[in-house]
Amino acid sequence: MSAIAMTADTTVSQASEIETTRPFFSVRDMHAYYGESYIVQGVSLDVRRGEILALLGRNGAGKTSTLRTIARTDNPQMRQGEIWLDGAPIHQMKSFEAARAGIQLVPEDRRIIQGLTVEENLTLAKVAPGNGWSLEQIYQSFPRLAERRTQEGVTLSGGEQQMLAIARALARDLKLLLLDEPYEGLAPVIVQEIERILHSIKPLGITTIIVEQNAVAALKLADRAVILDTGEVVFAGTAKEVLDNAELRHEYLAI
Ligand SMILES: Nc1ncnc2c1ncn2[C@@H]1O[C@H](COP(=O)(O)OP(=O)(O)OP(=O)(O)O)[C@@H](O)[C@H]1O
Ligand SMILES: [Mg+2]
Repeated sequence: MSAIAMTADTTVSQASEIETTRPFFSVRDMHAYYGESYIVQGVSLDVRRGEILALLGRNGAGKTSTLRTIARTDNPQMRQGEIWLDGAPIHQMKSFEAARAGIQLVPEDRRIIQGLTVEENLTLAKVAPGNGWSLEQIYQSFPRLAERRTQEGVTLSGGEQQMLAIARALARDLKLLLLDEPYEGLAPVIVQEIERILHSIKPLGITTIIVEQNAVAALKLADRAVILDTGEVVFAGTAKEVLDNAELRHEYLAI
């Protein structure tokens, strides 16, 4: 068998076995500032391919800023540290290059484009080069979006808009999905539907970092957890360790 054929045949589970020594996604001593405001203060974290990491902490702990720094937005500005995704140095990239490398940030406000239908929002995402999901694949996994394909995206319910935002990330070349408060304001039944989708993309090797106020829901979904406090990591471990540790939950998550 040729090397190329072997690569194509390598399943995700084989791939993650090979990767036991090197994490798929890694942040090393990352520091970022809004102007002179020092906010992300030396964050390090590791995630394996296909894992879900819950990034938690109190209001103002620096969760959104950490996601934005990983996505290489200009604000906050990263001044020190390294970010590696699948062997590629992301810390040297601009946000559009990070997106091209497979990092897709779904911000809290979801950024659905006004004046465009559901399908147009998805088609626009597909304009970027890469191997994103086809419309057909998306509609199969998101039947609600299929039903509303001709409806203007911004007129969808909050839950449907969140699904559209995630679907749009899948339409692009997606390796690392960054979700900022995806469950905010959503009914439990919609949260469950989103959980089901996030679960279903794990075996495809898509890695997710989820920031959530609903820490219990995020921890039940996640493999690992990182807790931030004033821009620093105060805990890193498995999600179960946090669920089992009442003191930790009480001190940093108020649950
Ligand atoms: N654009 C900005 N300019 C200056 N400071 C900012 C800016 N955005 C956030 N901050 C500050 O950075 C700190 C971390 O904010 P961040 O939004 O990252 O926290 P968070 O953990 O996401 O909080 P929340 O749970 O409320 O969403 C806060 O002290 C906040 O006031
Ligand atoms: Mg935030």
